Amino acid sequence: MLFAQIKIAWTFFNTTGFFDRFTNEFEEILHKPEKRKDSRDWTEGGEVRYTGGMRNKWRSSVSDYELAPLLEEAKNVFGLDLGWTKHGPNHWLQVEKNAIMLGKHTLGCDMEVARRFAILHDCRRQNEGSDPEHGARASEFAQELNNKGVLGLDSGQLATLKYAMNHHNGGQVSSDPTIGVCWDADRLDLPRVGTSPNIDLMSTQYARKLLRL
Ligand SMILES: [Fe+2]
Ligand SMILES: [Fe+2]
Repeated sequence: MLFAQIKIAWTFFNTTGFFDRFTNEFEEILHKPEKRKDSRDWTEGGEVRYTGGMRNKWRSSVSDYELAPLLEEAKNVFGLDLGWTKHGPNHWLQVEKNAIMLGKHTLGCDMEVARRFAILHDCRRQNEGSDPEHGARASEFAQELNNKGVLGLDSGQLATLKYAMNHHNGGQVSSDPTIGVCWDADRLDLPRVGTSPNIDLMSTQYARKLLRL
């Protein structure tokens, strides 16, 4: 009798999705980074949801779009464990979304450069910690891709992209709208590693506005 009741209860919870919901919530808790007092969540135009960490389920992919070949090139040279890395494709795609959001509000930003920065800037990392030369390696890789005709930028755009990548981890800000969007888009994804974005290290007005909300 007791067994039959347990079986009915089990069937009920299974068919109502109770266990799935419980598992999903548990996974969210498991992957949720420490909520910092000064972290921020926001939505923008219904397409960007910045949750401040790895729980972000709203990441989109560029794989259906014109940058798909570039994404594949970046994945092919990326040497870190895709199952664990916080500097891999998920981060690149979030940076790209951040760049699109910031670029819409930053006059003079070259989105072709900013989107390519997002995809390439961390693809030559060699470890998850301090790797001060990874921007320079990414810059060299961008030059190689441009020589192969994969990047699709003119010489001026390539120079801007390479500068942004070379110096993206140098703790600088920039008054150049394209470079500023690149760096801010990257830094807005810092909560994934447990660090809050610093408003004083934001180059664009819109990123500073977001952090003040
Ligand atoms: Fe980086
Ligand atoms: Fe990054």
